[in-house]
Amino acid sequence: MKNAGDMQVQVIDHPLIQHKITLMRKKETGSMDFRQLLEEITMLMGYEITRDLPLEEVDIETPICKMKGKQISGKKLGIVPVLRAGLGMVQGMLNLIPLAKVGHIGLYRDPKTLKPVEYYCKLPDVADRDFIIVDPMLATGGSASEAITLLKEKGIQSIKLMCLVAAPTGVKKVNKDHPDVRIYVGALDDSLNEEGYIVPGLGDAGDRIFGTK
Ligand code: PRP
Ligand code: URA
Repeated sequence: MKNAGDMQVQVIDHPLIQHKITLMRKKETGSMDFRQLLEEITMLMGYEITRDLPLEEVDIETPICKMKGKQISGKKLGIVPVLRAGLGMVQGMLNLIPLAKVGHIGLYRDPKTLKPVEYYCKLPDVADRDFIIVDPMLATGGSASEAITLLKEKGIQSIKLMCLVAAPTGVKKVNKDHPDVRIYVGALDDSLNEEGYIVPGLGDAGDRIFGTK
């Protein structure tokens, strides 16, 4: 894991993640494999992102003797996918944290203005809960920044952002708008093209997950 230059972002560049992102980038990779790889990478990234979860001691007994074991303490977690593409990361996170609650934020990027348009928001109870927003793509950063703002407006203070592929523009926007939010990405790409797609990127994540065009 490393920080990237002047940007506040942690690139989780484990070899398995790099390998699997390469497979996802290939244009010939179909939806079934794309979804499977996204779930696998989400689990690998989720392992790192949950590294600071608090532990507590618990008295247990092995077949040999009594001991003090460790368990995740009662911290409440919320996973919030940004629809649609963020849905592809939910199961990976739930595989790791089965008791997490799942909220949904519906945003789409207007193709002309590239600004996010909200169409849905449903969150679990937010009191004392830490939230992880998941979305495969951080391009201009408009959608992620808006999603974070929506959570903050509900009184949520502890927010992490987890994306598969990011462009520097998006990282810088979220850093500027929400300096308190830690960003985790699997790859930090070069730039955006004129349509706001990440270069080299992997294309339209939602379309590739769901087989739409
Ligand atoms: C994609 C992606 C992000 C957003 C990133 O969603 O899943 O939410 O674009 O772009 P930005 O950083 O420039 O805001 P999209 O708007 O294509 O909607 P979809 O997931 O429903 O296809
Ligand atoms: N949304 C995507 O799905 N892909 C990009 O490259 C940018 C935004």
